[in-house]
Amino acid sequence: MTALLWSSKKKVMAFIVFEGLDGSGKSTLIKALDQELESKNISRMITREPGGTPLAEEIRGLLLKIGDEKPVDRCELLLYEASRAQHVDYKIKPALQKGDWVLCDRFYGSTVAFQCFARGLDRESTDWLNNYAVGGTHPDLTILLDLSTDESFKRQNSRNDEKDRMESEPTEFHKKVREGYLAQANENPESWLVLDAMDSPEKLQAKVLAELERRNWLK
Ligand SMILES: Nc1ncnc2c1ncn2[C@@H]1O[C@H](COP(=O)(O)OP(=O)(O)OP(=O)(O)O)[C@@H](O)[C@H]1O
Ligand SMILES: [Mg+2]
Repeated sequence: MTALLWSSKKKVMAFIVFEGLDGSGKSTLIKALDQELESKNISRMITREPGGTPLAEEIRGLLLKIGDEKPVDRCELLLYEASRAQHVDYKIKPALQKGDWVLCDRFYGSTVAFQCFARGLDRESTDWLNNYAVGGTHPDLTILLDLSTDESFKRQNSRNDEKDRMESEPTEFHKKVREGYLAQANENPESWLVLDAMDSPEKLQAKVLAELERRNWLK
């Protein structure tokens, strides 16, 4: 079952996920889309992964902090999935059941990209765990902001924030993450939209709106 619900041909809600390398413009696009949906009186909930609930945010803290004990890859994967299960049941599912749209900054596409493509964990187990964690709640659309690692690092450096544990991984790691996103988009062309993150924020917003129109979600 997907989140899509229709009532007399009226789209009442959608679960949209935003994926892409650090600095690819996810937050910027979500903010713009939030304002656009507000102007159309569409109720929505904005959230992020890992995190989204107090407990899931605590798990986020464990995942992203740079500490003395580095989690092994399987531990890292399971922490992401634990946080996801909590987030879906406490926040995403209830919002969709209420008829709200959900705009989520990262979801299981990032787990496949980071934990399978970049860390090298096996895809079958990861897909199984992703399905187990979401319990049937899947995104209707995943928007990938595709960006080179060079530009990703440039944008991150311009922010001057301290890098978290994942951001601190080497360029080769992030190249594999990018490949992982693109591979998933290729596997699922109906539910993934790939955008060139070098486009201006205005152009990206226009492309997303065109896609929502094309899918008749704004009617
Ligand atoms: N389309 C764009 N073109 C050029 N710069 C952009 C674009 N979108 C966002 N930026 C700038 O790039 C930086 C990162 O943007 P943003 O925070 O939206 O990315 P993000 O994907 O949310 O990053 P993170 O994964 O680290 O949260 C910001 O300084 C933002 O102003
Ligand atoms: Mg962001």
